[in-house]
Amino acid sequence: MPKILAIDDDENFLLSIANLLRYKQYEVEAVSNPLQAEKVFQQQDFDCVLLDVKMPGMDGITLLKQLQNQKPLVPIIMISGQSNITTAVEAIKLGAYDFVEKPLEADRLLITIRNALEKRSWFTEKENLLAQIKEVFPLLGESPAMKEIFRLIRQVARSNAKVLITGETGTGKELVARAIHQQSARNGKPFVKLNCAAIPGELLESQLFGHKKGAFTGATRDQVGKFVAANGGTLFLDEIGDMEPRLQAKLLTTLEDGEVEVLGEPYPRKVDVRIISATNRNLPEMVEKGKFRADLYHRLKVVEIHVPPLRERREDIALLSRYFLQEFAQTYNKKLVDFTPQALNLLRQYSWPGNVRELRNLVEKIAIFTRDSRIEAQDVELALDQKSEQGVPISPAGPLEQALQDFERDYILRHLKMTGWKIQETANLLGIHRSALFRKIRRLGLEKG
Ligand SMILES: Nc1ncnc2c1ncn2[C@@H]1O[C@H](COP(=O)(O)OP(=O)(O)OP(=O)(O)O)[C@@H](O)[C@H]1O
Ligand SMILES: [Mg+2]
Repeated sequence: MPKILAIDDDENFLLSIANLLRYKQYEVEAVSNPLQAEKVFQQQDFDCVLLDVKMPGMDGITLLKQLQNQKPLVPIIMISGQSNITTAVEAIKLGAYDFVEKPLEADRLLITIRNALEKRSWFTEKENLLAQIKEVFPLLGESPAMKEIFRLIRQVARSNAKVLITGETGTGKELVARAIHQQSARNGKPFVKLNCAAIPGELLESQLFGHKKGAFTGATRDQVGKFVAANGGTLFLDEIGDMEPRLQAKLLTTLEDGEVEVLGEPYPRKVDVRIISATNRNLPEMVEKGKFRADLYHRLKVVEIHVPPLRERREDIALLSRYFLQEFAQTYNKKLVDFTPQALNLLRQYSWPGNVRELRNLVEKIAIFTRDSRIEAQDVELALDQKSEQGVPISPAGPLEQALQDFERDYILRHLKMTGWKIQETANLLGIHRSALFRKIRRLGLEKG
């Protein structure tokens, strides 16, 4: 039975509301002294609150803020006399769920309560879901393609088979790799990642296989290789397509023998490591052109998991956007509730060349700059616009000085627009002092509008 807290200084009014709600199978706690209300609210669990806008001793807005601070997820419905509708509207802006007017219409009140309770259950469900996901499994999706990937992950997690994960940049390849590790018997053992593109050849070799102090000039101390570090667990070789041929050969030998040759050690070491690799390159094509070893390719892709680009699974966009919005609401301590349907439509339509990473970055930007708790289509539009402006057109030839100035101008202007010409906020974003920003605005002749 849902439980409702009704707060109003008018005792007769309270009694009639309580009777109505009890008759409709709600449990009701009625409090006529606003000073007591906060305590009652804290001590018991309510599903919804009815709160009078105007009361002697403490006004409804102050109380609203206090209750929200205590338990932000409980929806609060304001009750307003006709003379204080503006206050009720203010309450909505502060995050009250809705308001009803006195004299109360029973039907309207009951519908509002029902809606509020629905919203609450949606929230708690989602909260549980998010908590679960955060802990064990941050990879989200509800498209058929993602469901198939979840199935594959569960399946390969049971084995030791090598997995090659392919897909465009930002599609979630690393998350897939982590999910496989987490769901496998190796969970609890190390998950070691090595990005083969970020490190030049010689260094990569040392990173991968390790060396003893003095094994070569410059080896001033022992280096534990990733293979050894991952022993018992999983080694994730990211951007495997960027590994140079000489190292590809050495990796192949290691995989065939299950032994690592640590540079400077007399005997190879046995290791038990599960290999997951990933690339956004077209490996079959590289094999054909002789840039990637065919034998290594076949060894690595015992199972291949292809993560499709976001534009081919638009069903995931709403779920991901909402998840990221909640995430950043927490990070930036903002009350962000949801996107409007129009805003979600815009997000669904965009092509997302940077895939989920791009979506996540965009939602972060929106979360930082939006002041309302609901994200409107125009918030999304603005963020997407700024994105498309990001490429500064490069004039075919011209002095560097001019190009730099054009860039600076464009860059600063974009940030000014983003903040609505708030100087301090823009200066913070650019990492310069506000007086320096003022000087640049003057020098570049930047103007609003
Ligand atoms: N399905 C998903 N659910 C939740 N978050 C996701 C999902 N896919 C990607 N992300 C997020 O998007 C970002 C990019 O994901 P990830 O690093 O796994 O992509 P990637 O495919 O490895 O990209 P790259 O090829 O550029 O290395 C990360 O912040 C990740 O948490
Ligand atoms: Mg990656």
